[in-house]
Amino acid sequence: MTRETGAQDMPILRAEHLSKTFAAQGRGSAVYAVNDVSLTLQHGDTLGLVGESGSGKSTLGRLLARLVEPDEGTVVLDGEDLTALRGRRLRRARSKFQVVFQEPYASLDPRMTILQIIEEPLVATKLVRSAKERRERVLAMLDEVGLPREFLTRKPGALSGGQQQRVGIARALISEPTFVVLDEPTSSLDQTVRASILQLLVHLQRTKSLTFVFISHDIHTVRRLCNRTAVMHLGSIVEIGPTENVMQRPQHPYTRSLLSAELSLTPGVPTRDLAPADPLPTDLPTGAAADAPGSVRPGGLESGAPELAVERNNR
Ligand SMILES: Nc1ncnc2c1ncn2[C@@H]1O[C@H](COP(=O)(O)OP(=O)(O)OP(=O)(O)O)[C@@H](O)[C@H]1O
Ligand SMILES: [Mg+2]
Repeated sequence: MTRETGAQDMPILRAEHLSKTFAAQGRGSAVYAVNDVSLTLQHGDTLGLVGESGSGKSTLGRLLARLVEPDEGTVVLDGEDLTALRGRRLRRARSKFQVVFQEPYASLDPRMTILQIIEEPLVATKLVRSAKERRERVLAMLDEVGLPREFLTRKPGALSGGQQQRVGIARALISEPTFVVLDEPTSSLDQTVRASILQLLVHLQRTKSLTFVFISHDIHTVRRLCNRTAVMHLGSIVEIGPTENVMQRPQHPYTRSLLSAELSLTPGVPTRDLAPADPLPTDLPTGAAADAPGSVRPGGLESGAPELAVERNNR
């Protein structure tokens, strides 16, 4: 049995009828970035979120992590309605849900030391009041993300892109969240570094039993990493289900176009620029390198193929 079949399980996260509209620049009409999206995540899920540039993936990720206010809808995490939280209660609740961003350098304050950056969620949530204890926790977290302890006093500018993203991951995990949104966490990194960051994420997810939303424009990575996949189109989820079902037996015409590479997922590349025979951009090494011990594997986080039929609509 897979986690998909456990209908009686309490979902860790339930989003209902989320919508977000942005006022258009100039005189155009408003942008419906996310339009009536509902979904649930079971504990330990890694939900891949794919779709063309502008389809609303980041906005949905930010709504789920309560970084933007929805116009409509609710997000309930572990029984707590995040959308109802404000001010101090929201700041405290943030320890349970965190985000890793695409551009590590842009998301790290260059004036702060690595210690200050990683301990920041513990300070903001008032989770750990003792500076000494925070330092201990940060040192342990540096070990976990594979960074030398000497980095504690460095600033982000003195780190490589991959090291910076390890700092971003450490900052997201220091408060021991249950739910993490990863918004294209590897797309600004070069190929070899990407694979090692993805392996780190898989390792951390397993050891800490985290629930992930993994936003990516790379179908191959989603296939390797995510037990479930949601396909976004024009602000809506058009298909969601176990990754293998979505990839191998897509039900929605949009998903079929996406998979046949008629649609481009790469930011900045116009739609239908790729010939159908072109390979999709890939994140991970293939062949021997991808099969090395400890590497990220297809179906990543579950043993066996998912069993449920594709959920045609949002769940
Ligand atoms: N802060 C904002 N103000 C105005 N419009 C926005 C804002 N954020 C997003 N949008 C618009 O909402 C739509 C969805 O954007 P979003 O960034 O969620 O897409 P995405 O799927 O993450 O795209 P990409 O793959 O390029 O990152 C786009 O039309 C975008 O221009
Ligand atoms: Mg985005």
